[in-house]
Amino acid sequence: MDASLTLPVESVAALGHRVWELVSEHLAAGPERHGLPTASPGSAVDADRLRSEPLPGAPAGDPLKLVDEVGRLLREGNAHPDHPDFLAFVPTPGTVTGVLGSVLATGFAVPTGWRFTGRVSSAIESATVRWLVELLGLAPGTSGLFVSGGSAANLTALTAARDALVGTEARGATAYFSDQTHFSVPRALHILGIGEDRIRVLPGDAHRRIPLPGLARQVAADRANGLRPFLVVANAGTTATGDVDPLPELAAFCRGEGLWLHVDGAFGAPAALTERGRGLLAGLDAADSVSVDPHKWLFQPAGTGCVLLRDPARLTRAFGVGLPGYLETGATGHDEGEVDYLQWGVEQTREFRALRLWLSLKVFGADAFRAAVERGQAMADDIAAYIDSRPDLEVVTGPSLAVVTFRGLPPAAGPFPCPEAADRTVDEVCRDLRSEGRAMVAGVTVAGRRVFRLCVINPRAQPDGLRAVVDRVAELWTARAGAPERPGAAL
Ligand SMILES: Cc1ncc(COP(=O)(O)O)c(C=O)c1O
Repeated sequence: MDASLTLPVESVAALGHRVWELVSEHLAAGPERHGLPTASPGSAVDADRLRSEPLPGAPAGDPLKLVDEVGRLLREGNAHPDHPDFLAFVPTPGTVTGVLGSVLATGFAVPTGWRFTGRVSSAIESATVRWLVELLGLAPGTSGLFVSGGSAANLTALTAARDALVGTEARGATAYFSDQTHFSVPRALHILGIGEDRIRVLPGDAHRRIPLPGLARQVAADRANGLRPFLVVANAGTTATGDVDPLPELAAFCRGEGLWLHVDGAFGAPAALTERGRGLLAGLDAADSVSVDPHKWLFQPAGTGCVLLRDPARLTRAFGVGLPGYLETGATGHDEGEVDYLQWGVEQTREFRALRLWLSLKVFGADAFRAAVERGQAMADDIAAYIDSRPDLEVVTGPSLAVVTFRGLPPAAGPFPCPEAADRTVDEVCRDLRSEGRAMVAGVTVAGRRVFRLCVINPRAQPDGLRAVVDRVAELWTARAGAPERPGAAL
């Protein structure tokens, strides 16, 4: 028994070496990569065993064997959102530099909440946030902090919005967004004490965007009824279809009405790194706050989100506290421009998430990131053209940002008995594909019907690989639905 909880140096070196071998095998881009995008069929047995494992009172065995076993469990038992054939949800195609940044940060136990213990990490976070602001083309002076992901970023921004415009009591405070908005937004409002009766979920227009005339009518009606409209949440890349709300018009409307405009760009904001994306996201710089997830389209490990505010002092107003005596050390003479991040969000002891993106940008340079985001958009164009060139499939939405949705054409032997039967077939095909372990494709609902969806942001995906996944979806569709009726027929 070693009460110091240390290991001999040689043992640490061997374990560290093995851990890194396992991780780099996992991160390998080509055929040498181990593992499939999906969990193995045997993983349920492992999961059951792990769930009920008793507390190990004594050492549980050779640490090297343990590391190998954990590697196997993670490889076989989980799905892998960083795999090039993982095309469901919003993948997390991290870079090796992001992983290295995580290792460095946790290895040095960096506390980033408070500048007196984390002066350098706080400076690196400030710089990384400033770079992100520049990359996204946001107004100079915009700033914010790294958080765990889009859900936390939305909650942080919406807290600042509430406190700025309606106060913590938020009596009558009313919020507006489209039915395409991520569930983390209504959940954040719920946490903030703004219940369903003061949330207006507006049905999207024909392009699944928030309808401006409907929004204006609803705000006017709510004001007439004594409520206090305060917030519009717009999407810069909806999760389901990658659509973008009309940001310039919404910004003008919100300015005129004195409303806070929050843009949820958790998935799509990085498109602004490219010329094409900047056109699509015009108006992003007029938002009061923006969420962006570096763990999505900026290729960082899971747990790397960011929230940015045009007026970052709003964060201090929402989250700032009087420091207790043990944290007060007085002025250092060096605090010009320094930030105590514990005053800008809910965490005091924080992971040093910024180092992942900082190291990645330093190693590869911003131009490589621009090229990687551009590549995602080009792959979406390519796969959409391929889908439409096939006689048995057709594109339903997109490509928008890097999302394409599509469907199989109905069977020649007779159409489905009801639309719900076609919907079920879409979900069955997604399940079939997943159980083969070959690829992950999501089903989503567009205009009330289930369709297939691809999100193609992984910079290590190849057009041929994506086409092969679509080919397999088409085969599975035909196997379940029968051969297609004729090109162009609707379900
Ligand atoms: C548009 C959007 N907002 C918010 C989120 C939530 O992000 P996270 O899972 O990092 O909390 C997602 C996740 O996919 C998203 O697509």
